[in-house]
Amino acid sequence: MDNTFLSPYFQQPIALGAHIVVHSMTKYLNGHSDCIGGAVVLTRPEDAEKIYFVQRSAGAGLAPMDCFLVSRGLKTLAVRMDRHNLNGMAVAKFLESHKKVKRVIYPGLASHPQHEVAKRQQTGFGGMLSFDLGSLDAAKAVLNHVKLCSLAESLGGVETLISLPALMTHASIPVDKQKEIGITQGLIRLSVGIEDVEDLIADLDQALAKVQG
Ligand SMILES: Cc1ncc(COP(=O)(O)O)c(C=O)c1O
Repeated sequence: MDNTFLSPYFQQPIALGAHIVVHSMTKYLNGHSDCIGGAVVLTRPEDAEKIYFVQRSAGAGLAPMDCFLVSRGLKTLAVRMDRHNLNGMAVAKFLESHKKVKRVIYPGLASHPQHEVAKRQQTGFGGMLSFDLGSLDAAKAVLNHVKLCSLAESLGGVETLISLPALMTHASIPVDKQKEIGITQGLIRLSVGIEDVEDLIADLDQALAKVQG
C-alpha cells in the first residue's frame, strides 16, 4: 500500500490489514521539497530480511543529511497535514463551483466515487487534487497565468505545485493509454500547499479567467 498522499497522520494501512506500506518521504513526511527518500514499513520479518538485503547490496541507505531533514520535517507533520487538508478542501470546493471547471477529483468531495471509503478509513483527505478543464489549451492557459502556484512535478511540500499530467508526469504513456487511466489532455494536478488559502483561490481564479469561453 502506497500511503504517500495521506501520510500516517491521515491513514494507517497496517491497522486496515496491509502487510507492506511504502512512502515517498520526499513528499509530505519531509514536507519541504529539499530531500529525496523513501520508507518501507513491514509487518513480517521475512519481508524485512529481503529489504535489508537490498539495502545492503544496492546501497539504498539514506544519507545522514537526508535523515536529519526528514526527522525535522516529521516534527511538523501534524500541523502541516491539517493545513493541507483545510486548504485542499477549500480549493476543491472553489474549483467545483467554477463554471470553467468540468470536473474536480478530490476524495473529500461527495462527488468522488470513493468518498465513502475515504471517509471510513481516513481521518483527513489531504492536499492532492486534480481538475479537468476539457482541453489542453485551457489547461495551458491556467498553467501560464498562475503566479503563486509553481509549475513542478513533485508534491507534498509546503508550497503549492501545479502540473499537467498528460505532458509531464504521464508524458511517457501513449495518449490512448492515458485516456484509459483517466489522464485527459485538460487535466491539471494540484499539490495544495499551506499558504493562505484565500491567496491560492485568488491565484487560481485569476488564471481561470484567462481561459477562453
Ligand atoms: C504516490 C507516490 N509514490 C511514490 C513516489 C515516488 O517517490 P520518489 O520520487 O521519492 O521515489 C511518488 C512520486 O514520485 C508518488 O507520487
